[in-house]
Amino acid sequence: MKNPVVINNKIKPYIKIIKNITGDKSISIRFLILSSLAHGKSVAYNLSNAQDIINTLKCIRKFGIKIKIKKKICEVYGNGLYGYEYKNNMNLDAGNSGTAARLLSAILINSPKYIRVTGDNSLKKRDMKRIVDPLKEFGALFKIKKNTLPFLIKGTKFIRPINYNETRGSAQCKSSVMMAALFAPGITNLKCIKSRDHTELFFKNAINVPIKVKKNEKFDFIKVEGRKNFKSFSYNIPGDISSAAFFIVLTTLNKNSSLTIKNVNINPSRIGMIKILNLMGSKISFRNKKKYKGEVVGDVHIKSAKKLKSINCPKKFNSSAIDEMLLLFLASSVAKGTSIFRGLEELNKKESKRLDWGIKILKMIGVKTNKISNHGIKIYGNPNLQLKKTYRIKSYLKDHRIYMLAVIAGLTLGGKWIINDPDSIKTSFPSFNKLVMKLGAKIN
Ligand code: S3P
Repeated sequence: MKNPVVINNKIKPYIKIIKNITGDKSISIRFLILSSLAHGKSVAYNLSNAQDIINTLKCIRKFGIKIKIKKKICEVYGNGLYGYEYKNNMNLDAGNSGTAARLLSAILINSPKYIRVTGDNSLKKRDMKRIVDPLKEFGALFKIKKNTLPFLIKGTKFIRPINYNETRGSAQCKSSVMMAALFAPGITNLKCIKSRDHTELFFKNAINVPIKVKKNEKFDFIKVEGRKNFKSFSYNIPGDISSAAFFIVLTTLNKNSSLTIKNVNINPSRIGMIKILNLMGSKISFRNKKKYKGEVVGDVHIKSAKKLKSINCPKKFNSSAIDEMLLLFLASSVAKGTSIFRGLEELNKKESKRLDWGIKILKMIGVKTNKISNHGIKIYGNPNLQLKKTYRIKSYLKDHRIYMLAVIAGLTLGGKWIINDPDSIKTSFPSFNKLVMKLGAKIN
């Protein structure tokens, strides 16, 4: 779909079930990387079919790792920790995926040759110093300009374990260091602001690499012992809460509706958005909760909210809601009172400057919104907000989450919406348009 989509009608009330939401993106990328370093055939069920995952897979295949995909089953034939084949002039293109670029670069700590890592126009704007610095400490060599992609990276035979302080609440930074630590002799120590903990859970429950995690209120202290070969494993990948999030907010803001989304990853480090929405008065609950390889998986049940109230959002939720912040801004636009979010520096470092674009879009639809100090946003909610005009959403670096946000806004607030780049959904959630139409939305 090259042309913009047009939304001219609000969605009608619905009572529905979504049985299959796309597989968790963070877990899918980690599965591919770790299974490619395991010994033997690993199998994943419900691997995400999003472009970020396809790009990761294509990069890994270049190292001679066989990967087969049949429908939702993915088989990876790893050759062990030291089983990659390195050729001359290799080029890895991570496309739009910061996670793929930052985690794959880490395992190149073992490469005897320089390898070029690059990405699309959005990824080439994103900061790489955050992983280049720690990887240099492990011993990696870089040829890099301006701290961005493309860069060349070469590993070393003399990898040394490091002590690393993660200060942004970034799971990509943490995981990059943990992936490199797999190749370092002895113990790598990390002190991290809390962020999604899928890599820790993989190390502990899927590949059984020696890892110790201690937690206090603010930090996680992680110790990883490197140079341990590990066996192949299987993984049943749950649905992605960051994709489900669009339907959670759609149902919350729609009238007289209810929705159940089955088999979603509701790991506590990923559900900041749900905690915040419930504090605002939404009706979201979990059913059939189960533990799976340390993750928490369950069905998410959502009912229309009668009244939403504003929130002064505690900063401790930022990392666990970072990919859902735009949706929280939308919910705040129709909540009673003034909502405040602070400490969102990282939001402007995503696929596009999401804090700035969020403010711009809210202003465009007539919601009084200010940028405040400490990378914050103040949103003056209006529970009676009803849109009548025409709203155009431009490219915003083809950011998939901006596109999907605009669709949810159009379906719940009214007005006519002309939204560019429907294809951007391929990045994380290829079935998004089909699923909204299944709920009754009209998108042309
Ligand atoms: C991710 C971590 C987050 C998130 C991204 C996926 C991951 O990024 O925004 O979509 O899989 O580790 P940061 O670590 O940069 O916050």
